[in-house]
Amino acid sequence: MLAIVGGSGLSKLGNMEITRRKVARTPYGEPSGALTFGRIGACDVVFLARHGYGHTIAPHEVNYRANLWALKEAGVSEVVSVASVGAVADHPPGTIVVPHQIIDYTWGRASTYFEGKGTPVNHIDFTEPYSRGVRAKVLQAAAGCREPVVDGGVYAATQGPRLETAAEIERLARDGADLVGMTGMPEAALAREISLEYATIAVVANYAAGRGDSQRAVPLDKIGAVLEEAMRRVRRIIEKCCER
Ligand code: HPA
Repeated sequence: MLAIVGGSGLSKLGNMEITRRKVARTPYGEPSGALTFGRIGACDVVFLARHGYGHTIAPHEVNYRANLWALKEAGVSEVVSVASVGAVADHPPGTIVVPHQIIDYTWGRASTYFEGKGTPVNHIDFTEPYSRGVRAKVLQAAAGCREPVVDGGVYAATQGPRLETAAEIERLARDGADLVGMTGMPEAALAREISLEYATIAVVANYAAGRGDSQRAVPLDKIGAVLEEAMRRVRRIIEKCCER
């Protein structure tokens, strides 16, 4: 089964026929909200809003472990995560990117299942942090519905919830980052730890601090409209993913 984890701008899927909701409990606590089960076209899917259905859970407060554990227990094998990002590279707001790499700058988050007394030490391979299969599926779906997307990009995960300084964004650019967001990690690594095939659809909400029209400040008042329009395209891509 396919799971969609929705981020800012995507707290529900309009094109989903909902069959049931389930409040899940996990050894790691409660997920961000009830799991919403349903169908898109011919495909069984489950949806979870990363920041809660009322958008009240900050990026550093999301219980990433509980979210992915609950999805795994529900029978999920593949996850498409949707995340809004700032553009470090020259991707104008509204651009959809399917990143291929991650740099993790977050700290203090519960970032592994492999800890605690009696848990054997375990090192996952994370050379390619995203699933090739799920990335290909998303890219094919986007091509199939003629939605332009950028294939590849380096996602920098920052701690938030504040936005970055211009100098921090300069550093991320020097490090090779193309996108900056606050939720990509530890989500991607946790998915790998429990063998969920995971990829991200990143939606550029704004130019990152000091770039493009964010030279002096990030125009926060414009983000809502940008995401609303872009999420319509993301929903179409997800719908197409469910056709096969
Ligand atoms: N920085 C970090 N996270 C973000 C941004 C940003 O500029 N825009 C959307 N998520």
